[in-house]
Amino acid sequence: MINVKPLSSKRQGVYISTYGCQMNENDTERMLSLLEMVNYEPVNSPDQASLIIINSCSVREKPVHKVHSEVGRYKELKKNNPDLLIGVGGCVAQQEKTRLLTDIPLLDFVFGTDAIDELPDIVEKLKSSHQKIAKVRFEHQKPYQIQTLVRNPGVSTFVNITKGCDNFCTFCVVPFTRGRERSRALAELVKDVQSLVQRGVKEVTLLGQNVNSYKSACGANFAQLLKTLSRETDIQRIRFTTSHPKDFNEELVQVMFEESEKVMEYIHLPVQSGNSKVLERMNRGYSREEYIQKVKMIFKYLPQAVLSTDIIVGFPGETEEQFQETLSLLDEVPYESLYAFKYSPRPFTKAARFSDQLPEDVKSERLQRLFDKHKSIAQQLSQKYVGKIVQVLVEKTSEGRGIGRSTQNKVVHFPLKGEQELVGKMVDVQVSEAFPQTLRGHLL
Ligand code: SAH
Ligand code: SF4
Ligand code: F3S
Repeated sequence: MINVKPLSSKRQGVYISTYGCQMNENDTERMLSLLEMVNYEPVNSPDQASLIIINSCSVREKPVHKVHSEVGRYKELKKNNPDLLIGVGGCVAQQEKTRLLTDIPLLDFVFGTDAIDELPDIVEKLKSSHQKIAKVRFEHQKPYQIQTLVRNPGVSTFVNITKGCDNFCTFCVVPFTRGRERSRALAELVKDVQSLVQRGVKEVTLLGQNVNSYKSACGANFAQLLKTLSRETDIQRIRFTTSHPKDFNEELVQVMFEESEKVMEYIHLPVQSGNSKVLERMNRGYSREEYIQKVKMIFKYLPQAVLSTDIIVGFPGETEEQFQETLSLLDEVPYESLYAFKYSPRPFTKAARFSDQLPEDVKSERLQRLFDKHKSIAQQLSQKYVGKIVQVLVEKTSEGRGIGRSTQNKVVHFPLKGEQELVGKMVDVQVSEAFPQTLRGHLL
């Protein structure tokens, strides 16, 4: 999504390395848009840059260590160019705050997840004063008013609808790194999406840690937001991520059904565990049975819906029997994609203090069994697409092939016919070969 231009002589180069979720990817795009306004342009490698930013993630495994080692790699560059500025943003910056500046002397600045819009200011100040800067306060009091900033939005782009998270799942650091949940106003989102449409965007993915707890100041909820965007803007496709099972209600599924021309039938619905006791200790707010009921409700309205999920294995105290229930959930819910992780203790979180932590080898072995089981299920599930016709929004063409995504979020490849420009167009493709994430076929 990020477009890199050759560096012209007047502008300065910025290099950003991005870790973590789509929220961070979108934040990087925002940083690049803001920095472009003060004469920076993205470069392909750190040695061409006069500003290097690490947009960090701390959701799992040694995130602080990763920041240390990446900054360490820039030691020579900094020695050769003392004017080179190096900063850390994102969730590790928010978590570690000024401690990062003390622990990593090569760093010039840290800025938290609520300080992105201050980035041009921070950089200007650093250039004039050479004093280290830390901007790591949450802006809990301010309403969440931003406009989507994206340099070349292309066919499909992300739109933040909420920031933060108030759920405090006991394993998760995000409520501490992204702060309290705030929603953008409905009317602002309608304007934002319509202005993206005017720039050629055909599809938006609405982003939030828990999109279905969206609440506009005017009282509109997530279902009403979907309906309004579908009816009052000219956007052709709407996707969203991530939905929390506890807030996935019938009103939302009904709207997805009524607006199915525009609202895509793909739902990422992270379950985390198939055992109700573990779910309770995770503070997820639903049981195995309630989750399965929600899935049934989804398929009642949207029989073609595609589901994907996140699972954590080896949560503290998880027994073999409890893990077996996660395995057996895969027989009950047809997940076409699975993102699974070994539990990793995170700072500030409750579960990190639970006394019954599991050994690494048990977690690794469970993860492997889960992936093995899912692999064969996903292969089988994908075969239902063979011979079917899928509607594809073409995102790019390259080497004689068109590439886009189907309504159900599969990446679809097909050979191009003739010279017709297809990017941004909706086409029908008949599937000849199907894999869990990708489909191949030919244009109809
Ligand atoms: N808001 C989203 C999740 C954001 S984090 C939701 O509620 O679903 C993305 C995924 O990382 C989570 O779904 C979870 O599966 C995983 N994750 C979060 N914290 C973790 C931890 N401490 N150890 C292992 N995986 C974790
Ligand atoms: Fe983390 Fe839970 Fe919030 Fe998701 S809903 S970001 S897993 S605390
Ligand atoms: Fe990582 Fe922060 Fe996203 S911890 S997953 S970058 S919200």
